[in-house]
Amino acid sequence: MPEADESKKEKNFFTEIPQKSELFFLKGSNNYDWGMKNRLSRIFNPVSGKTVMLAFDHGYFQGPTTGLERIDLSILPLAPYADALMLTRGILRSIIPPSTQKAIVMRASGGPSILKELSNEHVAVDMEDAIRMNVSAVAVQVFVGGEHETQSVNNMTRLVDAGMRVGIPVLGVTAVGTTMARDARYMRLATRMCAELGAAFVKTYYVPGFETVAASCPVPVVIAGGKKLPELEALTMAHHAIQDGASGVDMGRNIFQSDDPVSMLEAVRKVVHAGIKPAEAFELYQSLKNGKK
Ligand code: R5P
Repeated sequence: MPEADESKKEKNFFTEIPQKSELFFLKGSNNYDWGMKNRLSRIFNPVSGKTVMLAFDHGYFQGPTTGLERIDLSILPLAPYADALMLTRGILRSIIPPSTQKAIVMRASGGPSILKELSNEHVAVDMEDAIRMNVSAVAVQVFVGGEHETQSVNNMTRLVDAGMRVGIPVLGVTAVGTTMARDARYMRLATRMCAELGAAFVKTYYVPGFETVAASCPVPVVIAGGKKLPELEALTMAHHAIQDGASGVDMGRNIFQSDDPVSMLEAVRKVVHAGIKPAEAFELYQSLKNGKK
């Protein structure tokens, strides 16, 4: 039992100061419960409202992708520079130190390999295990227009229902089939469907007209990096995405396949969180890279 309050100091209830009630900083997220908001605040920086997620979950369907042959050697040194790590549970448990302070966004769908029809995914992580791994969000691929469109949407809504019970947000990842047009019209459809069906945030690709994609999606949108581009082009894409309303990036190959991944990640951070221009970011990338020689 604590001791009784025997302080002689006069109590002060500050009756003249109303208690503040702040709006949550993230688009479309004000009506979630405390745990969900707290997890989103681990992914998105509450000061800038943005995130730099480092994606290295590619192995879940394509095995040891170039740059990810040894995640212990190539990715662990990058982790301190990211806001969140997007990965599979196999890599989390085998390679990521449990002492990490980084937000974990856990890939929670899968099944087919690169050799098969990719849209034929199922839920691949139970929410109970997601809690055990203390993740900040789970991610699910949604194949709008794909052969197994409904199944993949159902994977997402099942995860949303399970996540809502325990306060874990779901990232809807729009997966564009190789034969589909990667344009704003498609991205508007896919991102909006994910949001309407309960995704707390959505990952898509940067396309011309992206401002209409971000505007018509009621929750935050982050962009994937896609195939490796020259560093200046990747930084330019990130800059345009942020200017056009993206809430961050979830970038993989353009970082871990860069000539200097740490310098690239640092430059991307400045674009996302400080809004610096592509030329300045590229200069930063080069000076960081050359400073190491
Ligand atoms: C791919 O399916 C994975 O979900 C990646 O996380 C995603 O594509 C982002 O990685 P990248 O920037 O290499 O496209």
